[in-house]
Amino acid sequence: MNVTILGIESSCDDTSAAVICDGILLSNIIAGQKVHEAYGGVVPELASRAHQQNIIPVVEQAIKQSGKSKNELSAIAFTRGPGLLGSLLVGSSFAKGLSLALKIPIIDVNHLQAHVLAHFIKQSKNENSAPKFPFLCLLVSGGNSQIIAVRSWNNMQIIGQTIDDAAGEAFDKCAKVMGLPYPGGPLVDSLAKEGNYNAFRLNKPQIPAYDYSFSGLKTSFLYLLRDKLKTNPNFIEENKSDLCASLQYTIIEILMDKLRKAVKDLNINEVAIAGGVSANSGLRKALEEHAEKFQWKIHIPPFAFTTDNAAMVAMSGYFKYLNKEFSSIDAVPFARMII
Ligand code: KG4
Repeated sequence: MNVTILGIESSCDDTSAAVICDGILLSNIIAGQKVHEAYGGVVPELASRAHQQNIIPVVEQAIKQSGKSKNELSAIAFTRGPGLLGSLLVGSSFAKGLSLALKIPIIDVNHLQAHVLAHFIKQSKNENSAPKFPFLCLLVSGGNSQIIAVRSWNNMQIIGQTIDDAAGEAFDKCAKVMGLPYPGGPLVDSLAKEGNYNAFRLNKPQIPAYDYSFSGLKTSFLYLLRDKLKTNPNFIEENKSDLCASLQYTIIEILMDKLRKAVKDLNINEVAIAGGVSANSGLRKALEEHAEKFQWKIHIPPFAFTTDNAAMVAMSGYFKYLNKEFSSIDAVPFARMII
């Protein structure tokens, strides 16, 4: 019998629903929330209200586009955390209500594990590009920067992580001080393509083992702008591409230095990237260069699976369904959760 999972994701500012049948993606609908742009960051209260408005049409569309009927669903997987509590409550409550109506189980999913397991989503029956265990995954998003040793779908160990800001935060906060709108990461990426990455030298942290730190880089960027603006008020406008290229280059160097060390020390040369920042063109290129130079086998996710999406939640739910790992109706979401 087919296993058909409806996935629901509402951990931050994207309302998403997806249907996966036997590991093959049938639909993945994402409704973003433009309301936050004016505030320079996600406003939790507004995010949960927008999820409340979006969730029914998004789920309906995902089911319709999948070609399956509600009665063919085997289970509903939902993001339990980590994330914004008000946002998580919308998705988890909706999943519970629908599961009771359809008399099918619910499956709670860890958002961070889901980002890693996005690499196992098949877009067609014969696709066979999933990583082999064990592999290392660099998970880089607006809230996380971690190197994870993935030994099986349910055995993941964080071997390094940021001690302060995440890589996505470094992109977004530095973009903000240049006057770019939120989220700044994609804009820095496109402006960097025109710039000289050697134009400005920024601080790289000295942190032991595989951990990351991005707060010093942020301060160094801020001080650079402050000093240059004293003598040239048009400094940012005149140097935006070079600033973006230098910033992006430094963030990627910080990320890759530790990843290279982890690959060497753990002797695992199968390497994946995941999370919103894995959409970055410079990071993708750096990974490809490392693959060539050090014979890594690399896995770069399709753009649709980099930022928050329900396809990865449905995929994680599929693994758990096969393992009969269901959750109870009184499961509460968690703002904080580790892998
Ligand atoms: O995984 P994600 O959608 O959300 C969570 O953090 O949960 O990641 C969002 C982050 C933001 O910081 C955004 O600026 C960054 O991913 N991002 C990028 C790019 N696309 C998204 N950063 C750099 N380059 C990009 N192309």
